Amino acid sequence: MIRDGLGLSYDDVLLVPRRSSISSRKDIDVKATLTKNLIMNIPVISANMDTVTGCRMAITMARYGGIGIVHRFMTIEEQIAEVLKVKRSENIIIEQPYVLDPAKTIGQALSFMEEHEITGIPIVSEGKLVGMLTQRDVMFQDNLDISIDYIMTKKNDLITAKFGITLEEAKDILKINRIEKLPLVDDEGVLKGLITSKDILKIKQYPNAFKDGKGRLRVGAAIGVKKDDVERAIALYKAGVDVLVVDVAHGHLDLSINMTRTLVNTLGDIDIISGNVCTKEGTEDLISAGASCVKVGVGPGSHCSTRVIAGVGVPQLSAIIESYEIGKKYNVPIIADGGIKNSGDVTKALAAGASSVMIGGMFTGTDESPGVLIHRNGRKVKLSRGSSSFGVNVARRKMDNKEVIDDIVPEGVEGIAEYKGSVVDVINQLIGGLRSGMSYCGATNMTELRKNAEFIRITSEGMRESKPHDVDIIR
Ligand code: XMP
Repeated sequence: MIRDGLGLSYDDVLLVPRRSSISSRKDIDVKATLTKNLIMNIPVISANMDTVTGCRMAITMARYGGIGIVHRFMTIEEQIAEVLKVKRSENIIIEQPYVLDPAKTIGQALSFMEEHEITGIPIVSEGKLVGMLTQRDVMFQDNLDISIDYIMTKKNDLITAKFGITLEEAKDILKINRIEKLPLVDDEGVLKGLITSKDILKIKQYPNAFKDGKGRLRVGAAIGVKKDDVERAIALYKAGVDVLVVDVAHGHLDLSINMTRTLVNTLGDIDIISGNVCTKEGTEDLISAGASCVKVGVGPGSHCSTRVIAGVGVPQLSAIIESYEIGKKYNVPIIADGGIKNSGDVTKALAAGASSVMIGGMFTGTDESPGVLIHRNGRKVKLSRGSSSFGVNVARRKMDNKEVIDDIVPEGVEGIAEYKGSVVDVINQLIGGLRSGMSYCGATNMTELRKNAEFIRITSEGMRESKPHDVDIIR
């Protein structure tokens, strides 16, 4: 039996230009639906691969309007620590600041500051604020064994404010007193929160950030479909993760459908993204199980070998078009996951019906991707690997204390990614290209892009003509 239609991928088509009244690309709105309840400021998500998204990538993604999905190839505790680093990186008010007891030593305070990457700590005894210790206090201390009590700024010399103060009022106090941290207390002197000048500056610095109601950056986390993944999901939920991604290579699986249903029933108020599928049937089943968004893509990824090893998949453009038909019916957004090679592919994915794109390969080798820079034959590179690669499989078995590895059949590859500098440059190029594509299609927002989209199929000659040719490219 052969399914009707022809499987098309991004390079098989181009978007036909439309009459446009757009005079400035700045007028184009690239806001995008992540789930039924969450709207991002750009339609870009970093992939839950262990060489793509840890806390650093997730922080940058959210600062620039998208979101990062922290990968799951680590212990529950490690994944929670990554999520917490994102949630703690920016705040309006830090409601549960890290605190120390005055009896701790300076040495202990220094390690604590280093471990949590903070520069000032409220000192608290029996819940009440008794002082502040900042890096300036400890900078020139030679004796690390004396207690904090001796060198901290004591309560009577501290500038504090009442919990409930507005951000503008806090800003004035910080400015007038030239301080960096403002502890908030109640009438009994109990520490209720902390406002920092760094957080206030970040609001200005990243106006496009994707944040929750408390001014914290949004972050997602991936989970699998095994029994202990429910425990993982609950722990992540309690840690404040914004969205959970049930992520397996073959998402049209009873286990995946059941996991989605279980999480929707147990956790209720958190959006569940489920995937990966590439058919109408798969999309419908995940939506029926309660998914707030469906992740689409079987085998298009840069590090995937599923289509070669298993002989399975659907070319990505067709997969998006098919899944969108169902997504539209239930008003559930679709993520186009994998296979994005350039900004043109982003425009095509969104025009075909995806609400956002998930990107792995293009974000590897950046400052923000996990892993160290390696010098190789005069080039700077980082390692990159697919989530079903041999390396990830071995690491997962080690985590589960399983020794046997000779039955592993990888469906992903390991490689090296050229150093690309900051991911911010990659994001800017993608969004710049997307705006351009939307302008050609006469679309000022995602809905118009989808409405106006008309694809034309092209031949391999058409593709050859589409790329720069007959020139020795220097830039
Ligand atoms: P790109 O093309 O952006 O795609 O690198 C990222 C997506 O690829 C998927 N992925 C894999 N698929 N084997 C697979 O079949 C793998 O080892 C693998 N690793 C990642 C995943 O959906 C990711 O978001």
